[in-house]
Amino acid sequence: MPRISKLPAAAALGLAVCLFGLTSTATAKPSGKDLYAKCVNCHGEQGHGNQMFLAPGIAGLPSWYVETQLKNFKTNVRGYHYEDIAGHRMRPMARMLRSDEELKAVSDFVSKLPATLPKPTLKGGDASAGKAAYATCTACHGADGKGNQALGAPDIRYTGDWYLLAQLKKFKAGHRGANPKDVKGMTMRPMAMGLADEQAMKDVVAYIMTLGK
Ligand code: HEC
Ligand code: HEC
Repeated sequence: MPRISKLPAAAALGLAVCLFGLTSTATAKPSGKDLYAKCVNCHGEQGHGNQMFLAPGIAGLPSWYVETQLKNFKTNVRGYHYEDIAGHRMRPMARMLRSDEELKAVSDFVSKLPATLPKPTLKGGDASAGKAAYATCTACHGADGKGNQALGAPDIRYTGDWYLLAQLKKFKAGHRGANPKDVKGMTMRPMAMGLADEQAMKDVVAYIMTLGK
């Protein structure tokens, strides 16, 4: 008899432990730092990027911009074109962020990592020719390259010259900024189309790389 009467008590205790376990895992939100562990393999511990993986420097990018891009990758607004190999690598990573809260937490974390000026990797860019071309870009990215939140234009000083060139090519070819849901990207696309060829792109990139010094 005593054995039977103990059973419900034990069951109740077990249930209480289970419930406690459930609620405590449901409320323990991963921090931005925890979430960033998913990003380290490609973007690096400090967020300075890795060209081998086509991953740009993201340290210090404004939080609002990181958030927009992660949403764009997650919803196939960016990185969906079949020729966009780099975008294909990043898209599933954005999908690992399960909620808007997680997206925001990791974006805040990234924006606080200190940016550094990446080493130049491109040859043949003429920064003085690029300076003249950059006059068009100042309207949105600013004369200092720091960007403008109201226009959705990011800081472009620290991602890396090879990455900037790749993005200009993608905008021009319509691999980025061509999706009607990509409201901000669509304002950038005509600007890249205004750069005549790869040389003009390299020139403007060489100038942008002087802005972060
Ligand atoms: C498998 C490698 C890989 C991992 C892991 C990864 N990324 Fe990326 N990420 C990339 C690549 C490649 C690009 C460049 C995409 C392109 O060229 O359009 C990119 C681009 C980005 C961009 C756009 C930067 C810009 O200037 O527009 C952001 C923001 C970003 N990643 C954030 C993250 C975050 C946050 C994580 C972790 C949750 C993460 N990435 C994990 C490879 C990766
Ligand atoms: C009308 C405003 C506007 C002008 C002018 C403009 N841009 Fe942009 N640019 C943007 C916006 C908005 C974005 C972000 C698009 C997005 O959200 O994907 C952007 C993104 C970029 C990116 C990608 C940054 C990244 O981290 O992925 C590069 C590179 C860039 N612009 C270079 C230029 C250059 C070079 C010029 C001048 C030839 C220029 N832009 C002129 C609005 C502008």
